Order: sequence, then C-alpha cells, then structure tokens
Amino acid sequence: MDLDAHVRLVESQMRTLLVPSEPALQPFYGMMSYHLGWLDAQFRPIQADGGKRLRPLICLLACEALGGDIQRALPAAAGIELLHNFSLIHDDIQDNSPMRRHRETVWHLWGMPQAINAGDGMLILAHLALQPLQERGVPPATVVQTLRVLDQTCFRLCQGQYLDIAFEQREAVDVEEYLRMIGGKTASLIAASAEIGAMLATDGSQAIAASREFGWELGLAFQMVDDILGIWGDPQVTGKSAASDILSRKKTLPILFALQHLPASSAAAFGRVYAQEQLAEEDVPQILGWLEQAGARADVIQRAELHTQRALAALDRTGGSGPAQEQLRALAQSFLKRSF
Ligand code: IPE
Ligand code: IPE
Ligand code: MG
Ligand code: MG
Repeated sequence: MDLDAHVRLVESQMRTLLVPSEPALQPFYGMMSYHLGWLDAQFRPIQADGGKRLRPLICLLACEALGGDIQRALPAAAGIELLHNFSLIHDDIQDNSPMRRHRETVWHLWGMPQAINAGDGMLILAHLALQPLQERGVPPATVVQTLRVLDQTCFRLCQGQYLDIAFEQREAVDVEEYLRMIGGKTASLIAASAEIGAMLATDGSQAIAASREFGWELGLAFQMVDDILGIWGDPQVTGKSAASDILSRKKTLPILFALQHLPASSAAAFGRVYAQEQLAEEDVPQILGWLEQAGARADVIQRAELHTQRALAALDRTGGSGPAQEQLRALAQSFLKRSF
C-alpha cells in the first residue's frame, strides 16, 4: 500500500487552507507554510521536512480499514495535522526549542509575538479545515460530533501542556501523574485521529471506541519513545536538540523510572541535582550516568511495548480489515523502533 499517495492527498488538502489574501499578510501565511515545510525562511518554495504526518495517516487508514471513503475523511485529516502543527509552534516557544525538523523554529526566526500569531492562525485553520466535510456527504450530526472531538482534544492537549510545564518546577511526579500529562499532550490527539477516522466510516459505537483506544495506547507508547529520543536521540536524525528535556528538568519517563529504581543514596543525589533552580550542561553527563545505572532506557522501552501491545489488541477489536488495517498494525510496531 502506497502511503506516500495518502500523504500527498493530505498535503494538497492542507494547502487549500493556506492561500495568502493580500501582500501585507504574505509573511503571516509564510511563517505557517515555513513550519509545514513548504517555504524557506525567505518564503521561497522548498521541499523541506514537514514532519511525518502520522496523525492524518492514522485517520485515513482507520477510515479505510472500516470500509470508509478516504476522500470523505480528508478534510478531517488535514484539520488534525494542522492542529498538531499549532501545538508544535507553541510548544517550541514553551520549551525554548531553537530547532525542529532540522530547521530553526518559527519563534527563533521571527520572534515569540509573531510565532504566537502563527500558531493561533494554524489552530483556527484546523477548525475551518473541517467545513468541507458536509459537502463531501458526511451527515451534519457527524460533522458536529467530529468538531466536538477535535475541540475536546485541543483542550486536553492544552491541559497536558500545562502539566508538562508545571512539572518542571516539581521535585516529584509519579507515574500516574506522568500518564495524565502525556495522555493530554500527545495521546489525546492520536486517539482522536483514530476515532475520527472510524466515525467517518461507520456508526458502530464499538468499532469507534476500539479505534480510539488503539490511538490512545499508541499515543502513550509514542510519547514514551519521544522521551527516549529527547535524551538519547541523535540531533542529526531527530532534527531536535538532545538533552534539552534534561536541561529544562522535564519529568520524562526515563527520569521518573531512574528516581524510582536507583539505590536510595543515588536516587537522593540525583533528586538533588535535578531539583536545582538552574541545570547546567556540566550536570548532564552525571545525569546520563544515573539513568544508565538505573537501566531507565530499557524500562521505558518495556513500558512502551506494553502500550503497543494494548494498542494492537484494540486494533483487532475494531473489526477493521484489509491493507489499511495491516498498515495500521505495521505503523504501530514501527513506532517502537523509530529514531526520529
Ligand atoms: C512530536 O510529534 C510531538 C510529540 C507529540 C511527541 P511528531 O514526532 O509526530 O512530529 P512531526 O510532525 O513528525 O514532526
Ligand atoms: C509534545 O511535546 C506534545 C506537543 C507538542 C503538544 P514535547 O515537547 O514532548 O515534544 P517535542 O520533543 O518538542 O517534539
Ligand atoms: Mg513540550
Ligand atoms: Mg517540546
């Protein structure tokens, strides 16, 4: 099955939303198009890394696996990807990240005030993207329900981002709290992608719920792997800087597991270093040493495998079939091995 064709369809659907209206606003559209990988920093057309487009793919494949028509789901898939990109533009401001997808971030190039505008613009476009659903024959009640899922998701995502940042100031965070945080910031949108794809194919509430659960569990696993990449990933491959999660004292899963599993004296020492007002580059090797000593990386991989297994079990329960169902299975398994 050619997933590139699906990605191309999503890209062209997204492009219909980003047409500059007047010359003075070209840079506003330009910042958004830059972030999506379509323009360079001088706003010249380019083909740059615009991300993996995983969420719209999940939406389209979930629809297809349940016998739906992906043309009907395309507006929703485009909206989902725009919502994801809104969250990234703002996340890079919030995390003080200078690099994403191998390029400078929007705020780093154009400043925070305009990056906030670019992110806000993208959020509204994500909503407007859903308007053509009705023209494509989706019943009005399903359109309203799709918008509701998208809005609830967006709110949960903001809650997750709130917790993520609030936890930077906390000394201790337990795994339950961590799961709530990543559930909000990451799993909720991946869950919504699978749920909306199913909703646009069927009215069957069991299939829709199972599809959502697939996306939810997959989203948890996805963020756990992102946590690993945020510490041990190669910046040349991820396109994001390494160790920045540590420097901002993020309570990622490797950190929580290390604090739990280290012998008491090392855990206390680690806790003290990690609670400092300002973490320095020089602290990083010592922290990496503690993570190594605790075997934190293997523990996180094991936990991500558990959520992937749960995702696959939920996928079986959707009752989906055919090449799209197999692609969803392959996609879920590939997340564990990803390096970017
Ligand atoms: C990055 O998501 C943010 C997380 C939720 C971990 P992706 O890794 O899907 O980002 P792109 O869109 O491919 O760049
Ligand atoms: C991921 O945030 C979730 C959102 C962007 C909403 P992170 O801060 O963990 O992701 P990266 O590593 O910057 O992509
Ligand atoms: Mg973040
Ligand atoms: Mg970030």
